Amino acid sequence: MIQSNVSFPCNVVIFGGNGDLAIRKLLPALYNLDRAGYLGEGTQVIGASRTDLGRDGYLKMVKKGLQEFVKKEDWDADVWTRFSERLNYAAVDATKAETFKLLSDALGKGFKEQDTVYYMSTAPDFFGDICSNLKKAGLVSNRCRVVMEKPIGKSLETSKLINDAVSAVFDENNIYRIDHYMGKETVQNLLAVRFGNALFEPVWTNAHIDNVQITVAETVGVEGRWGYYDDSGALRDMIQNHLLQLLCLVAMGVPVSLDPDAVRAEKLKVLKSLKKMSIDRVRRNTVRAQYTSGNVNGVQVPGYKDEEGGKPESMTETFVAIRADIHNWRWRGVPFYLRTGKRLPARYSEIVIQFKDVPHSIFPDGSNLSSNKLVIRLQPEESIQLYMMNKLPGLSERMQVTPVTLNLSMPDHLADNRVPEAYERLILDVIRGNSTLFVHRDEVEAAWVWADAVLDGWHQSTIAPHAYPAGSWGPQAAFELVARDGRSWHESN
Ligand code: BG6
Repeated sequence: MIQSNVSFPCNVVIFGGNGDLAIRKLLPALYNLDRAGYLGEGTQVIGASRTDLGRDGYLKMVKKGLQEFVKKEDWDADVWTRFSERLNYAAVDATKAETFKLLSDALGKGFKEQDTVYYMSTAPDFFGDICSNLKKAGLVSNRCRVVMEKPIGKSLETSKLINDAVSAVFDENNIYRIDHYMGKETVQNLLAVRFGNALFEPVWTNAHIDNVQITVAETVGVEGRWGYYDDSGALRDMIQNHLLQLLCLVAMGVPVSLDPDAVRAEKLKVLKSLKKMSIDRVRRNTVRAQYTSGNVNGVQVPGYKDEEGGKPESMTETFVAIRADIHNWRWRGVPFYLRTGKRLPARYSEIVIQFKDVPHSIFPDGSNLSSNKLVIRLQPEESIQLYMMNKLPGLSERMQVTPVTLNLSMPDHLADNRVPEAYERLILDVIRGNSTLFVHRDEVEAAWVWADAVLDGWHQSTIAPHAYPAGSWGPQAAFELVARDGRSWHESN
């Protein structure tokens, strides 16, 4: 295990410290960072939430959560002992200023001597209160950073209100808007592949690329979050943030460095170049759908409306397919097909860069000639493959060609390094004060401008969402969306 780059001692306060995200992802990530030796001595982790759990109660809850959500092979009783010594709890009600005194006590006198990260893993309605009450309690300085979890609003307007409330207390430099897709190892590898090789940049344009496909497919349903999800839907939950961030990384120009401002500036240009979704374009270029009952990998599951807490009148989409267009010199005429859905037959996230056909085939008719593709697999396994044409070996009179894949994944001797979870990378970046992988306010707002137009188009059209049986790849209309352009979705195996 690498024992380098230990961070400075830091206070990490998690608002919503007993919530689902904290227990499933944030605390396991912090435990793993501790295990790998990245948490500096003196680093403390304080869970904060309304319930009066007491430190012992919280420790019990965290231990149970870690034993469930940390991989078996990563569980180590000695690490737990060390980690538990860092843990503390404060019963803080975000809306009650007087309760922040308990947080102040937990932070102790050393508060001013080390950096503090406030991770807001609560509903966004509380972000403003948390920040203003931190300020009233004297718990804000320029050594403090604040992390905002999604969803940041439900529209441009509501996201502005949330951002304004947080910006009233913290400088933009100290605000870290997290999109956990940016912490995935292969997403960062995309930057390395694009900008660490001279090979790709010259062909990374509409002269050579035919289309780009981004798919985030999930087999799970709404996992007990029907109320939240129904208010959101796949466009707000996945496309407005995760898929648009991936699109930015594929489409952006070369930043001058990996400096946060340089990267954000390039991503922002992409978001601002997204062709506005007029009502006509929404009709033509988007498909929304909701799952009905079906069979996902041998398990019979209910339809969306019949999930726990479901309501029969819901029109919320659990599947979206969209053709997005970027109107700039590099990408004009190249469709970006985005697709995401719940209860699909497989769980994977993938970016496919589909190159153009060769201008003229010199091979005999019937040759198996197909165009190059770069397939970047984010999960469940991570890989990058380039589909190339090769000669089929043999003495046949007519030359036969066949597609082969060139594997650009990590060689085995490097792959031995454990691949960190997205939240490990991102939490460590906040602790270190590196905001390159975080989302600037301007990006959130530009993404909302585009997403709002889609939502508006759906609202104005009287067409109900399509239905698709759980366990299928979505409605027929999603296939027609690309077929109409003479293309098809890349089929993964
Ligand atoms: C979250 C969404 O942001 O991302 C969830 O709210 C979704 O609905 C999840 O399931 C997917 O994340 P991952 O890392 O499992 O692909």
